[in-house]
Amino acid sequence: MFKVNDNYLKLPGSYLFSTVAKKQRAFEAANPDKPVIRLSIGDVTQPLAPAIVEALHRAVDEMGNPETFRGYAPDLGYEFLRNAIAQNDYQALGCHIAPDEIFVSDGAKCDSGNIQEIFSVDNKIAVCDPVYPVYIDTNVMAGRTGTYDVTHGTWSDVIYMPCHAGNNFAPELPQETPDIIYLCFPNNPTGATITKAQLQEWVDYANRTGAVIIYDAAYEAYISEADVPHTIFACEGARTCAMELRSFSKNAGFTGVRLGFTVIPKELKCKGVTLHSLWARRHGTKYNGAPYIVQKAGEAVYSAEGKIQLAAQVNYYMENARIIKDGLEGAGYEVSGGVNAPYIWLKTPHNMTSWEFFDYLLERANVVGTPGSGFGPSGEGYLRLTAFGTRESTVAAVERIKHM
Ligand code: MLT
Repeated sequence: MFKVNDNYLKLPGSYLFSTVAKKQRAFEAANPDKPVIRLSIGDVTQPLAPAIVEALHRAVDEMGNPETFRGYAPDLGYEFLRNAIAQNDYQALGCHIAPDEIFVSDGAKCDSGNIQEIFSVDNKIAVCDPVYPVYIDTNVMAGRTGTYDVTHGTWSDVIYMPCHAGNNFAPELPQETPDIIYLCFPNNPTGATITKAQLQEWVDYANRTGAVIIYDAAYEAYISEADVPHTIFACEGARTCAMELRSFSKNAGFTGVRLGFTVIPKELKCKGVTLHSLWARRHGTKYNGAPYIVQKAGEAVYSAEGKIQLAAQVNYYMENARIIKDGLEGAGYEVSGGVNAPYIWLKTPHNMTSWEFFDYLLERANVVGTPGSGFGPSGEGYLRLTAFGTRESTVAAVERIKHM
């Protein structure tokens, strides 16, 4: 008789965004006359930029021509894309990252879930609390997190680093030394950031203790303040302790197109074994690469026109963030985030729990957010709103919340 992976049975409930979507569908079915505005999952609403659409069309034509048709992509991704990434995202900022340290993939969610496979199951992970649930759930699936405490919503073998208003939503170095540290800045879900000096402290700490940092920089394009680092490789010593995950979803609207990459410097080693070699082995064995068409679209992100068009798109969403933040602050709510990130972190009023406020908002304003407690115990009493809606729906949602 076969046996299932028991670790899956430990997972409480369904994936956060699936639960939220289910609740939205139930409300819509029961209230067909009440149009709902979705500011929950961070899914983009603006169409692909013209430079990207043109690149896609050109690549489709190439695939239909026997002279230019392509089959399997190279293991790490096409060189044209890895060169563009290395030059624009790293070398232009003075960070030494070589094209062959970049692994192109179909997105940062998959990479952030899969990367734990190359580490021993004995490793102890540290996460910010609240946290993007993929980091925790995939470690649960691997059997690395111990047992779940239903009362506190925590796992026995996970080190939680609380992020709250008292520390500006920036994690403090943990008491207990972790092996793997997940950091995400600009942060999902709080929208908070840390300065370069603060990130340098984490890099120094990881090098001192022999930990590895998995740095998720999916929201890098939304950084607006000067002192916020765009990559962990801007910090001295990061090449020996960090890897970085990046996405084309949020900076270029690829949530439905799918493209991302992971950077693993060759100096990142455990007892002489490079993590680069392990991830290359995993990539080669389990993955056949993002489609040529999509990688060509990714290359267009770095073209002169692409950069201009995408900066305008990011500005559009950040104007939404400003509208939400200013509108809700004006209405007396306590809000943070939204300055270097497309997420607004809203304190629930009158000591309501996150889910109570979620229901209240859905019932009274017909607006869907994401309950903060779904991201971890320190998210209790908060709700996350995304700035990725259309301008019209964002303005309408703020008006509805103000008047509910
Ligand atoms: C979110 O809403 O947190 C993100 O859209 C999730 C993701 O990018 O996978």
